[in-house]
Amino acid sequence: MFHKNISMAQKLRSHDWFGRKDKDGIIYRSWMKNQGMPTDMFDGRPVIGICNTFSELTPCNAHFRDHAESVKRGVLEAGGFPVEFPIMSLGETLLKPTAMLFRNLASMDAEESIRGNPIDGVVLLTGCDKTTPSTVMGAASVGLPTIVVPGGPMLNGRYKGQTIGSGTHVWKFDEDMKTGRMTQEDCEFAESCMSRSIGHCMTMGTASTMACMVESLGLTLPGAAAIPAADSRKKVMAQLSGRRIVEMVRENLTIDKVLTREAFENSIKVNAAVGGSSNFIIHLLAIAGRIGVDLTLEDFDTLGSKIPLLLNLMPSGKYLMEDFYYAGGLPVILNELKKELHTNVITVTGKNHHDNIKGMTDCYNEDVITPIAKPLKPEAGCVVVKGNLAENGAVIKPSAATPALMTHTGRAVVFESIEDYHARIDDPNLDIDETCVMVLKYAGPVGYPGMPEVGNMALPKKILEKGITDMVRISDGRMSGTAYGAAVLHVSPESAIGGTLALVQNGDMIELNVPERKLHLHVNDAELAKRKAAWKKPEPAAKRGYVSLYVNHVLGADKGADLDFLQGSSGSEVTRDSH
Ligand code: FES
Repeated sequence: MFHKNISMAQKLRSHDWFGRKDKDGIIYRSWMKNQGMPTDMFDGRPVIGICNTFSELTPCNAHFRDHAESVKRGVLEAGGFPVEFPIMSLGETLLKPTAMLFRNLASMDAEESIRGNPIDGVVLLTGCDKTTPSTVMGAASVGLPTIVVPGGPMLNGRYKGQTIGSGTHVWKFDEDMKTGRMTQEDCEFAESCMSRSIGHCMTMGTASTMACMVESLGLTLPGAAAIPAADSRKKVMAQLSGRRIVEMVRENLTIDKVLTREAFENSIKVNAAVGGSSNFIIHLLAIAGRIGVDLTLEDFDTLGSKIPLLLNLMPSGKYLMEDFYYAGGLPVILNELKKELHTNVITVTGKNHHDNIKGMTDCYNEDVITPIAKPLKPEAGCVVVKGNLAENGAVIKPSAATPALMTHTGRAVVFESIEDYHARIDDPNLDIDETCVMVLKYAGPVGYPGMPEVGNMALPKKILEKGITDMVRISDGRMSGTAYGAAVLHVSPESAIGGTLALVQNGDMIELNVPERKLHLHVNDAELAKRKAAWKKPEPAAKRGYVSLYVNHVLGADKGADLDFLQGSSGSEVTRDSH
């Protein structure tokens, strides 16, 4: 079963541990042997770390032990030595106050676990939203050969004959409960119908967006993103990835060779074409910061906003990831977009996208993946708006919003915190109508802390009852990728550090003009200066521990909300031994 190994002419990093002929060598080898490893496991095989974000508290990744076994099979077949290790897993649904607060912490865990151990190449098992960017950020800061195995979406949800999508239908059910169209009993039945298999959210939410991101960046085998978690071909993909990472080590195909500026440009365009989440922006900026690629917030608008929407998936469309897979998956999108992409950049296969997708470009359902000549919508990407209310920019996803609201001026109704919003939003006496602009403060990286997905605030009950489902909403928070609406997000600088958002008062007029990329607070500079002088910076959210580190070092949303000292790479070298 085992191949003979890599030639000793190519020195493996792991040889610095297992190849030693001294006391340290005994220690490095002997304790591994307590797992029942034969001595010849250490004879120069590429050691492949399988970075597993499995956790039963991350339900989207709870099936990853199975995937790890498939990867191990592939690694062994190719003559490598697989070693699985856990890292902090970030479950979007359970973790408080928000999984985003811990993305950077998990990235540190991934980085240090990879660097500090005798690993020659790494497989990242990722699924739920933050588990993909955090592990890729960590791996990028080390620089070893790296391949990603996305865990796959859940199967389509079906409720009373209707297709329902993770997240996207949560907001709908919530509205239906508020307006009496759904009972609590119906809702609990619908919950079971929505999450009926292993896997992550099956809408084009952030997890699916991240899977498409890593595939378009060239970090997965072709076609990996859309395969449902429950499909046996997902395990095949995991096994093939295990084989491939061993070859990547032999070829010294490191992550920095894949993550070039061109790869990032490809990913921005693909994200627009699939109607990917606005969270893509913040994660891609953070990854670029680690690998040293110069990427700006404006690049997402310049490169992505004119790309047509090709994929008819919730929340921008009507289908789900399972349908995307059956229609042909991401290779079809890459083929449709080929004139827009750098198809010649190298990927983890050692080949470029053009060669990777040969034989995979037929579309089997043009209602799910539309041809570029007849797109679902002519323009799809996120746009960046700026103005005195967001000097460093804010983002909005027009494809998931009501077109008529893309040019709108309205009276501000201000919520000083998410608790303030919850306390007053359904008060019949709240002075609000559908022409108003809902403003939420202190939901940014420092303010919350951790920038939660609260930017798509549900509309007041009295407005929902009129049958109105969208209003302009502005915050320094994020929005779930499964959500929709005219939500202006990621306002930077954020309110907690004294951004203009902190100074908005009830009754101020706010102008959103997406075609002109403008977000303007109609309050004169003198008045703003007066309000700024009276503004009091909130107390820090924590005085100790990781949260204190986070609020003192987190960068703005326009820079990817990484910690300032984590930007860049430290390479893979560790010069000193532990004994
Ligand atoms: Fe895990 Fe949506 S909650 S992917």
